[in-house]
Amino acid sequence: MEFINPWSSQQYKDYAKLRDQFGIEPFDFELPDAPRLFRRGVIFGHRGFDYIYDAIRNGESFAVLTGLMPSGRMHFGHKMTIDQVRYYQDLGADVHIAVADIEAYASRGISLEKARKIALEEYVPSYIALGLKPGKTEVYFQSKRQEVKDIAWKLARKVNMSEFLAIYGFGGETNMSHIFSPLIQVGDILHVQLEKFGGARPTVVPVGVDQDPHMRLTRDIVARWRMFSISPQGEEGMGIFYKGEDVEGKLKELALHLESAGFSDFKINVPYRALYVRDADERDMLKINKILIRYEQGFNENTFYPPAATYHRLMTGLTGGKMSSSVPESAIFLTDDPEDARKKVLRAKTGGGATLEEHRKHGGNPDVCTVYELFVYHLLDDDKYLKEVHDTCSSGERVCGPCKREAADIISQWLRDFQERREQAKEEVNDMVSWE
Ligand code: TRP
Repeated sequence: MEFINPWSSQQYKDYAKLRDQFGIEPFDFELPDAPRLFRRGVIFGHRGFDYIYDAIRNGESFAVLTGLMPSGRMHFGHKMTIDQVRYYQDLGADVHIAVADIEAYASRGISLEKARKIALEEYVPSYIALGLKPGKTEVYFQSKRQEVKDIAWKLARKVNMSEFLAIYGFGGETNMSHIFSPLIQVGDILHVQLEKFGGARPTVVPVGVDQDPHMRLTRDIVARWRMFSISPQGEEGMGIFYKGEDVEGKLKELALHLESAGFSDFKINVPYRALYVRDADERDMLKINKILIRYEQGFNENTFYPPAATYHRLMTGLTGGKMSSSVPESAIFLTDDPEDARKKVLRAKTGGGATLEEHRKHGGNPDVCTVYELFVYHLLDDDKYLKEVHDTCSSGERVCGPCKREAADIISQWLRDFQERREQAKEEVNDMVSWE
């Protein structure tokens, strides 16, 4: 596979391979009170999460930005993103959620009015009922936020068409709005670091792995606009390279800033445009980059922290394949009638043996079972009991009928409770939406 196509409904099987192929780091941070998606490896990879981990550990502020395309009904696959956002919100992060109405228009031909209606009636009440706090979460529309669009056209100056073709595999027939829409997403991701939205700070973007191309693009663009770059130089410690005017003046001034942060052994090489911090090593990277960013902001308005991303596995549909709004039987929607949801679970594709007899004899395969996946991602919080489900399925002791009924009971009850909260949440929609 050469591309990850964010607009396809491809289902990935081998996440470790995907990770290696695209240079995604394995996610192995120990987070405080980690929710199940983190504990269970559903979030399997990241880029640049070190900044967020650092902020969490030091109680410093960070932002969360994610987006959803208002294209249909919200299902359990979408819920995963919001579950993560809620965790970060509880840790104190400020939360921004884009309604990707420009993208929905550009890639699917959905009108802005329709997108707005879907966002307000379908998505936002569900965000609230999933636990996001109305006064503390900001949902905005791409088409209404000038700063997002400004970043898109401004920063686009440092990307060219060949790169776009290489990242996305766009062809000659792709419409130009669609081609431009990834830049709008760059605008979404970076605008929260503008002064007006809280200033330059670590930002995390929790997404499904299909969104990785956009993250690579955004992080590349950020690096290109920076005037400083930083890389370990062995014996010489940490090398800081500057590509702007007044090399000596800037590097000297920077050394002063680093001195007040505790470093003392500097060497400046003007022709190399380099400042070596000889008493620093790789572990100081983050600390130094933070100082650099703060310093650079004074004269470069396009200075941003490299946004971090975490990637979760995409949910398998109950019929196999990816869970998708366009295949209603594949998905459980948050607004499904609880009895219909129950039936979908009872019909779901499992990892059970071909016959009851075979199942008893050889055991089932929970790792390819969509019902087990529901338990892991959404329905069971008790790790010990989950393991028991896994092991008794593998041994053949647990069989599909009762197992499905157990899942169906939990999910229908969950939906009843959720939908009740969702009704009440409708009154709070306006507290969450920003109109510009
Ligand atoms: N492209 C995303 C999707 O297809 C939606 C989106 C828009 C988004 N802007 C974003 C996701 C910013 C994360 C961050 O669902």
